[in-house]
Amino acid sequence: MTETLTIPRPDDWHLHLRDGAMLKAVLPETARHFGRAIIMPNLVPPVVTGDQAAAYRERILAALPEGMAFEPLMTLYLTEDTDPADVAAAHASGLVKAVKLYPAGATTNSASGVSDFNKVRGVLEKMAEIGLPLCVHGEVTDADIDIFDREAVFIDRVLDPIRKSTPGLRVVMEHITTKNGVDYVKSNAAGLGATITTHHLIINRNHILVGGIKPHYYCLPVAKREEHRQALRAAATSGDARFFLGTDSAPHTDPNKESACGCAGCFTATNTMPLLAHVFEEESALDKLAGFASENGPAFYGLPVSDETLSLSKSDAAVDFPEKIETGEGPVTVFDPGFDVHWHAE
Ligand code: NCD
Ligand code: ZN
Repeated sequence: MTETLTIPRPDDWHLHLRDGAMLKAVLPETARHFGRAIIMPNLVPPVVTGDQAAAYRERILAALPEGMAFEPLMTLYLTEDTDPADVAAAHASGLVKAVKLYPAGATTNSASGVSDFNKVRGVLEKMAEIGLPLCVHGEVTDADIDIFDREAVFIDRVLDPIRKSTPGLRVVMEHITTKNGVDYVKSNAAGLGATITTHHLIINRNHILVGGIKPHYYCLPVAKREEHRQALRAAATSGDARFFLGTDSAPHTDPNKESACGCAGCFTATNTMPLLAHVFEEESALDKLAGFASENGPAFYGLPVSDETLSLSKSDAAVDFPEKIETGEGPVTVFDPGFDVHWHAE
């Protein structure tokens, strides 16, 4: 028996495409199912200015295979030297859809991020004035804060003060991993949304650490306790429009993951939509998948929902996803949910 679900073509509101040979290999994995994505600017060196974002956008479009359609939605990497006028011009031209805040040292390629939040006050005020959203990597980096508490502490010490001192600033809490993140979004009014990744709906911290260390489940923010995963599942499948999909698909080659100091990031572009169908079916919420993956994100960003569709069908036989994709830089392991998946997307 085949069961089919058709939703508007989904978008990914948090994606790492990298550059060069890696970009060329991973872009089709996203463009196969997704119409648009918010492109993370944490290249080396980062995408800081409007000119750099325009050039990166051209490289992405040039890497897109013939016959595939995909719209990269560009972001700027916020530094303490970011010029509010450059941000405003990049927004006015339609090029840039958000600015990304990385606390310095929080994650992969975040060394140029913000340490002193007073230094970015002018940019944040300009963004509030023009309605340009701030995408936030919500983790403090203080050495004395336990890595599993970094999101919760960030909300209290950094995010809430920024929002209170910058009225009108639209904020996306990216890849939330805790009940604290869910509750913070729910307790606040307009102008605050959150993305949730596919993998944080599937794994908790035991998956990373029990029975041997699993480098391909290590990402930042790191997966938390089961109660947090349950809170994320409830939020994603609730139909609340403030929660939407941002895969945070973040490719690293196998040698860089399977290492004494392995990189953070799960690569989920290839199988995200089948995995989400599986998760939403488990939660008896298949009717909420279109909202989460295709409608809530465009509503937050003030963009139209796609007028194309994606069909998901369920078959009795489990679907075979590739274990790895080959890239010019080496193999990248596709996220393995650890269970059989019967949904496939086309
Ligand atoms: C991301 C990456 O590899 O660029 N890694 C990750 O674990 N998610 C960076 C990020 O979004 O934190
Ligand atoms: Zn990310």
